[in-house]
Amino acid sequence: MDIVLLGPPGAGKGTQAQRLADRLGIPQIATGDVLRAAVKQGTPRGLEAKAYMDRGDLVPDEVILAIMKETLASDGAKKGSILDGVVRTLPQAEGLNRVLKELGRKVDAVLFFDVADSELVKRLGGRTVCENCQTPYTGREPGSKCDKCGGTLVRRKDDEPEAIRNRLLVYGKQTAPVLEWYRTHGAQVRTIDAVGTQDEVTARALKAIGK
Ligand code: AP5
Repeated sequence: MDIVLLGPPGAGKGTQAQRLADRLGIPQIATGDVLRAAVKQGTPRGLEAKAYMDRGDLVPDEVILAIMKETLASDGAKKGSILDGVVRTLPQAEGLNRVLKELGRKVDAVLFFDVADSELVKRLGGRTVCENCQTPYTGREPGSKCDKCGGTLVRRKDDEPEAIRNRLLVYGKQTAPVLEWYRTHGAQVRTIDAVGTQDEVTARALKAIGK
């Protein structure tokens, strides 16, 4: 199964992608995580992406399409994937369909995580992430340790108030139309109420895909 997770910044895509990946036995593919790792390693891709990410703007489509090709064709993703924040523009949606078609696959479901803006701002303002495995946390101070890998928790630069505001604007302009595109291109789109406990949201997502 290849499942696309869509939703605004802070909707819980990363949190739920990890849970769905564990439950379904297929990998999470997160372009944000791939790009942050590239920034940390100082690769040419990371150097190109950094300024866009710090401002909360989208990284150019060709960079994302290259990541899609590499990750979806990898051995680990042969049985499918949970695509977390991978599709944010119409060219990316079309590109994903092409890449999957070449692999004899298709988008099996699109899950849209629905959360009000006021809640998103609250979540992002209180988030820390593990600098090693990128697991997000709420209510943990920077410098605390990750439960999963023992890495150090940090605040993301794009979780500063100005970058959050820009990310929400960018989402409305460039990513929200992707949802409509999927609806009119025959994909199974399911809206998930993403407010509630993490367990409740996971249960809703699994039910939406018949699991
Ligand atoms: P990315 O890392 O993907 O950021 P994002 O889409 O803005 O999403 P977030 O990671 O901020 O939020 P999330 O929905 O995953 O929520 P989370 O689970 O962390 O991308 C970063 C940047 O990379 C982009 O701005 C762009 O520059 C670039 N980029 C990446 N992909 C790209 C692409 N395809 N095209 C172009 N550019 C791209 O949860 C948020 C917080 O809420 C956490 O603290 C969490 O603990 C908490 N939380 C989770 N669930 C709940 C709940 N049910 N109730 C209360 N709190 C909750």
